[in-house]
Amino acid sequence: MHFKKRLLAAYRAFGDPGLVVDPTQMKRLVDARVGLHLSKQKMHETLRGAVEEGLAKMAPQLDNDLPGRLAALGEEWKSATPRWDRVREVAHEALERAGVRGGRMLEIGGRLNPRHRDFPDFDYHALDLEKAPGAEGVKVMAGDITNCPQIPDGSFDFIFSFDVFEHIDRPWLAGQEICRLLRPGGVTVHSTLFAWRYHPCPIDYFRFTAPGLKSLFDLDCLYSDFDYSERRRDVRGQGRYALKPDLLGGWRENVRVHYAGVKR
Ligand SMILES: C[S@@+](CC[C@H](N)C(=O)[O-])C[C@H]1O[C@@H](n2cnc3c(N)ncnc32)[C@H](O)[C@@H]1O
Repeated sequence: MHFKKRLLAAYRAFGDPGLVVDPTQMKRLVDARVGLHLSKQKMHETLRGAVEEGLAKMAPQLDNDLPGRLAALGEEWKSATPRWDRVREVAHEALERAGVRGGRMLEIGGRLNPRHRDFPDFDYHALDLEKAPGAEGVKVMAGDITNCPQIPDGSFDFIFSFDVFEHIDRPWLAGQEICRLLRPGGVTVHSTLFAWRYHPCPIDYFRFTAPGLKSLFDLDCLYSDFDYSERRRDVRGQGRYALKPDLLGGWRENVRVHYAGVKR
């Protein structure tokens, strides 16, 4: 309206009637300009309303409190459930949800610390890069999970790994092979690292976000999340938890990621 008033005042101030635009035409021009302005304003208000409505719907999903909760973690990691127990819980819940109660299980990287005892209802097989006897009498197939054509499609009901994906050189190929090796209805569970010290075994290649790990599998997701229970755990020189500083001088932030998926 300010604009309309200014134009009309200018029009009145104009002396030469020959130069003056016809008042009706002028009014039309002014109305058109004001109309355009008003419709733009209305459009902005509508858009703002839609954005605010969208944000309000998202609000319950936005964890605004997360930084505060993380900062408060302090020494809590000392009383947290041990990480293997947390991973096992994710695996057992995923198997339960998918109704997989037994069958053939493949553990990738099972040469060290095989987890067969935690899945007693499964016929356990381990696959690892190196042909080694495996701990505690567990036989280990020599193979590379990024390319194992010697294993037929749909061979396993359950495929699992713990602290392995960060050591795989082309994890996207591993994701494809795992999907191929699963039978329809089969479940896969993996736990790897978002932040941890550098630890070559034999090589330390990658770190993953929860969505990054999930993106490797063309499966229905049962679980995908960060696990920051041990975020404040300082592994440099802490009693029985002490580790030598790594190549980069140690590490104190520790965050895992877990993924579980089912092949439909
Ligand atoms: C850090 S160890 C973890 C072993 C065990 N899960 C544990 O918790 O101690 C990683 C293992 O993954 C194996 N590995 C790395 N890349 C692999 C691949 N492409 N295929 C199969 N195993 C692989 C390594 O040989 C090693 O035994």
